[in-house]
Formats: sequence, C-alpha cells, structure tokens
Amino acid sequence: MSDLNHDVAQILIGADELQSRISELGQQITRDYAGKEPLLVGVLKGAVMFMVDLSRQIDLAVEIDFMAVSSYGSSTQSLGVVRILKDLDRAIDGRDVLVVEDIVDTGLTLRYIVDNLRDRCPASIRICALLQKQKARATSPTIDYLGFEIPDQFVVGYGLDYAERYRNLPYVGVLRPEVYQTSQVEK
Ligand code: IMP
Ligand code: MG
Repeated sequence: MSDLNHDVAQILIGADELQSRISELGQQITRDYAGKEPLLVGVLKGAVMFMVDLSRQIDLAVEIDFMAVSSYGSSTQSLGVVRILKDLDRAIDGRDVLVVEDIVDTGLTLRYIVDNLRDRCPASIRICALLQKQKARATSPTIDYLGFEIPDQFVVGYGLDYAERYRNLPYVGVLRPEVYQTSQVEK
C-alpha cells in the first residue's frame, strides 16, 4: 500500500484546527436552533467526515439523512450539471433542514441541491459548508455556516477525494503535482 501522506505537498488545515473550528460551528448551530430538531442533510460522499464530527458537536436532538449527487465535469472541475443518485429517505416538509457540504467551489452543486430541497416545503433551509474557495462566486448560494475559506486550489483529505482516494486523511491538504500526472498515465 502506498503512503498517502507522501503524496501531499502541503497541509492547509491540520486535524486539530479542523476539530476546533467544527466545535465552534456546532456550538453556533446549537444556539441558533435552540428548541428545534434540525435535520442535517449530508451530501455524499465528501461530507461524511464533516457530518459525523459536526453532528457530535451539536447539543440538540438532530436527525441525519444523506443525499448523493453526481456533478459532471473533469475529476478536478465541476460543470454544474447535477443528477441525484441517492435521495433522502424521508420527506422534509415542515422540517428545519441544514445542508452539510464538504466544499463549495463554483457552488453549482449546492445551488441545485438547495433549489431541489426548497421545492419540498421545509420550514427552513440553511447551508453549512466546511470549506469555500476564496474566489467570490456569483453562482454560489449564501453559506450560513462556514468552516474555512481556502485558496483557489484543488484540495484533498477529511472526506475530499482525488479519484476516490485521500478521503481518509485527517487533515486538508494539497497534492504534489506528480500525483495527477502519474494517475493519468496509470488509467
Ligand atoms: P462545485 O459545484 O463547483 O461547488 O463543486 C462541487 C463538488 O465538487 C464538491 O462538493 C466536491 O465534491 C467537489 N470539489 C470541488 N472542489 C474540490 C476540491 O478542491 N477537492 C475535492 N473535491 C472538490
Ligand atoms: Mg461534495
């Protein structure tokens, strides 16, 4: 097995920094949703790690559900064409929905998801994203709870993948350029 850490050129956000920010987000959400039972909707697969850690920092009776979507484009760039691969298990009418997303780049995927969920008449719908790329995007919906702003670079780790790998790194980092070249030759 290859050493995943060796493929990483730079760590952008370390594991401790991730966890302490997620704890702050959890406290903020706990305050904002006091007296409510929000439904956390995670977007598979990238948001899984974030969803797990965030939900444990929310001191309310939350429910969790997941959606899987596919966004077309190259492996490192989204085109905003989205298809639902797995829908929610239950109806959300009257619920306070908090969409939990790993990263917002163009925001096109998120926009599609939020528009789709809004049609199902939830009581409220807000967005919590761990990462957002710095370049301001007109296409992106407003993020209500944001973990970190990051430079306009492709990142992996803590749920985020490149060709389905690196999701299990405990930090967010940038890959060495050789990694992309090698994997193209291999495939
Ligand atoms: P968007 O539609 O451009 O906002 O990107 C949507 C999806 O592309 C995200 O939910 C991620 O799954 C993926 N994505 C965007 N940027 C990155 C990145 O830097 N690393 C890994 N996945 C990314
Ligand atoms: Mg995603």
